[in-house]
Amino acid sequence: MRTIRTVAELRAALAGKNDIGLVPTMGAFHEGHLSLIRRARAEHDLVVVSLFVNPAQFGPSEDLESYPRDEQRDAGLAAAEGVDILFAPPAEEMYSGYPAPTLTTVSVEGLTAGLCGEARPGHFDGVATVVAKLFALIGPCTAYFGRKDAQQLAVVRRLAADLCLPVDVVGCPLVREPDGLAMSSRNRHLSPGQRQAALVIHRGLRCGAELVVGGERDARRLRRVVANVLTTEPLVRLEYAEVVDAETLAPVELIAGEVLVAVAARVGEVRLIDNMTVRVDAFGASADLGFSVAPLGEGSCGAR
Ligand code: PAJ
Repeated sequence: MRTIRTVAELRAALAGKNDIGLVPTMGAFHEGHLSLIRRARAEHDLVVVSLFVNPAQFGPSEDLESYPRDEQRDAGLAAAEGVDILFAPPAEEMYSGYPAPTLTTVSVEGLTAGLCGEARPGHFDGVATVVAKLFALIGPCTAYFGRKDAQQLAVVRRLAADLCLPVDVVGCPLVREPDGLAMSSRNRHLSPGQRQAALVIHRGLRCGAELVVGGERDARRLRRVVANVLTTEPLVRLEYAEVVDAETLAPVELIAGEVLVAVAARVGEVRLIDNMTVRVDAFGASADLGFSVAPLGEGSCGAR
């Protein structure tokens, strides 16, 4: 595996290559990241992983400074998965004039107004800008993103389509810890007590899934059940629980077709997000929570 730090070097390394799988990351790898890397490795001749803690997507009061960084460990994990190129540029290489704000930005309107966009103004502009730059840099490729960040995935799909970028965007399953907690680089900031409390997020989604599979089609009632479960845990502060169209991210009233149930909550200083996709058709309903094995205990959804 080659670690590359400059745009010029990356361009030279990719010249003439035409079967490229790209996995954009901010490092601090866990099984979620590795699942994307494995998929890219299985499907392409050349695998590029970018490792860049993108300052543009962190707000002034957010955790840019404390975001976990361990390039050596990440490089070891990437090499073990057979990655060809680790692109790990310094901020000055990605943003000329850094730390002055970049003059050119990419904004995906509409999709970024709700859900995490509300609590994190500017966040998705930062994501869209850096992803557009990576796509421009790498050229034709398949890019792998996790469904853990469902709003990000919708934004990236839309930006690739709207800007006619020659990139196939592939959404990959959300990977969970064995007890159901969605894997996240930020989980390491949770104390043991907070980590235990955070399991209520997964439990809320599971209760919502049971409700829909049991026949509920009213999005408001689904939302209420998920929110109610989350508010039973005093250490967890619910930020939102929303039921939205999986593609447009617009709130829905009726659960039909493919809808996204998305949740954000704070546990102490740590902001966690999670979601599931619910599919309803003429034959019934199913819920996709990604890879998860935790059984739901009797009575864990409480009174409805
Ligand atoms: P990061 O949080 O490092 O995530 C990199 C990729 O891993 C994203 O596509 C994310 O959805 C995926 N991922 C994270 N946790 C996952 C999980 N539990 N299961 C499945 N996939 C998971 O997302 C970013 O970085 C940045 O915003 C980035 C797109 C790199 C732009 O800076």
